[in-house]
Amino acid sequence: MQELAEKIDQLKQEIEAIELKTADEIEHYRIRFLGSKGLVKQLMSEMKNVSSDLRKDFGARLNEFKQFAEAKYEDYKEQKSGSKKAEQPKADMSLPAYPSETGARHPIQQTMNKMIDIFAKIGFTVTEGPEIEDDWHNFTALNLPENHPARDMQDTFYISKNPDWLLRTHTSSVQVRVMKEGKLPIRQIFPGRVYRNETISARAHCFFHQIEGLYIDEKVSFADLKQTLYYFVKEMFGADVKVRFRPSYFPFTEPSAEMDVSCFICDSKGCNVCKHTGWVEILGCGMVHPNVLSNCGIDPEKYSGFAWGMGVERTTMMQYGIKDIRVLSENDLRFLKQFR
Ligand code: DAH
Repeated sequence: MQELAEKIDQLKQEIEAIELKTADEIEHYRIRFLGSKGLVKQLMSEMKNVSSDLRKDFGARLNEFKQFAEAKYEDYKEQKSGSKKAEQPKADMSLPAYPSETGARHPIQQTMNKMIDIFAKIGFTVTEGPEIEDDWHNFTALNLPENHPARDMQDTFYISKNPDWLLRTHTSSVQVRVMKEGKLPIRQIFPGRVYRNETISARAHCFFHQIEGLYIDEKVSFADLKQTLYYFVKEMFGADVKVRFRPSYFPFTEPSAEMDVSCFICDSKGCNVCKHTGWVEILGCGMVHPNVLSNCGIDPEKYSGFAWGMGVERTTMMQYGIKDIRVLSENDLRFLKQFR
């Protein structure tokens, strides 16, 4: 025991005197003293030769020695990594900063937001509905029973898993959902993406965006519809824009109309956008058909209302002079960066 105690003291002195400079020297120290075959381990294995009355005292000394050896190692290791950090070059504060790229809303979203803001000013709130719909919400409730020829007006994507499911062909399906909730009056708009099985070209895509509007209350008339849409057009396209209504047909409205605005690209002189007519169609509208009201649980004797649906792509293209609808869904940054 005496011998071992002396050995420990001797090693301690040795460690005190050691100076470690390089990473190699530090590693060498670790292996020699703390490694799995190192001196600390060797001394520990001597434990069994120490008589039991002295073992406790020896254990304490040995432990203290181990901690001493470890502390030295940790100190040097830290110093070394600290000095590595210090060796790194300091940041050059005189360099110009990296340019920070700001993102922006997609032009479709910008147009939609503008439209939403305009209707919000006169009290319309926004509701969204599902893009995967069932036949009833997309067609039947809107007065298009099965085999109704008007279903062919919209080429539908059906979902093969269940023939009752489809990708909504228009946002009019959200009208149905809101009316079914039964909270009246209704003064809401429904923006969203719709899908049609059409051949993709410069003018048509298999998906696009619409904003649908719905106003239902007692004593709502066609005059209310016209005033609401006049207001919208003036806010959206400017006070000088002229408007005209043409009679039309939609199964879910009676009477139905389409609304044109004077072509603001060519000032109605005639161009490709207005196909040389001076007018551009921007929406379909009408008084909600009594069948639709009763399909959705609203009494058509007591309530009436109007609805409209308008395409967002068309308006966006007109406003920015975009000639090909496909660029709106290609996510080409060279195109998108122009809308910041
Ligand atoms: N759902 C029609 C379409 O996609 C647009 C439309 C027309 C919506 C008349 C309406 C409406 O609410 O009253 O072509």
